[in-house]
Amino acid sequence: MKSKASAPGKVILFGEHFVVYGVKAILCAINKRVTVTAEKMEGGKISIQSNIGNLELEPGKSISEINSPLKPFYYLADKMLKNENVGIKIIVESDIPLGVGLGSSSACCVAGAAAISRLFRKTSNEEILALAIEAEKTIFENTSGADCTVCTYGGIMEYDKKNGFHKIESKPNFHLVIANSNIEHSTESVVGEVRQFKEKDEMRFSLLCKKESKLVEEVLELLIENNVKKLGTKVRENQEYLETIGISNDKLREMIQIGQTESFGAKITGAGGGGCIYALTNESNLEHTINQFKDKNYDCFSVKIDFKGLDTF
Ligand code: PMV
Repeated sequence: MKSKASAPGKVILFGEHFVVYGVKAILCAINKRVTVTAEKMEGGKISIQSNIGNLELEPGKSISEINSPLKPFYYLADKMLKNENVGIKIIVESDIPLGVGLGSSSACCVAGAAAISRLFRKTSNEEILALAIEAEKTIFENTSGADCTVCTYGGIMEYDKKNGFHKIESKPNFHLVIANSNIEHSTESVVGEVRQFKEKDEMRFSLLCKKESKLVEEVLELLIENNVKKLGTKVRENQEYLETIGISNDKLREMIQIGQTESFGAKITGAGGGGCIYALTNESNLEHTINQFKDKNYDCFSVKIDFKGLDTF
């Protein structure tokens, strides 16, 4: 018997970095997916195949001994195999670019948790999410769990440290054009640089947090109204705050400039320092925005919000 599951990637629409200091952020799932197929096999081993490499190990190893980006899958399989006398073969297929803030590892953890656990019993979304967060912690110990949550439930979500996650029940119809700088970023080090910025001028940072909070509240209303033009002005405003805290660079600024010529607004998504930006569009300016990037040889693609989340089949 095979068990198969797929989960979407994500973008942070508003509020990255400020969320670390208690401000609300808005995330959405995107229609780029990871699909995981799991199957029991003879021989007792855990075997993982993916387009970034393979891993084959006996169960029962300590996670700290494993030096592979595939270790969340090993963690999940090993946990499920306790007291079972079989092995598991896992195949991972992904159309989410890696390491650029689009939620590829969270989508892997969610789809992996679903496909692997469902080889043994019918797990609920809540159980799958809890397993996925445990698995993600094998690579990012301090994960907030926000990414895995949006990858499980799909749609748009608000998140803050104190109150956790709340799904936003609106179905805006915009398209995001994602452009990839192809510069891999370390979220941890960029978060550290922002902490230094904050410590140098607490007053200034606290004022920025207040502005960002107000902006996010305004965005929540605009999402319900589905007012894409006004949302675009909020995207630009948020980008100014990200510039101020120092997470941009020349390449990202150039990309934002390109994105903004045709779209309603463009900003960095995620940690910055590299990774991706998005430009907010609808049917009227989608093609033109993509062409602006393509003309300048940028790696770009369009995505829509994924309202489905985790899918098992
Ligand atoms: O690692 P990314 O690109 O998904 O973004 C992390 C978001 C931050 O706000 C910068 C950090 C965090 O833990 O929320």
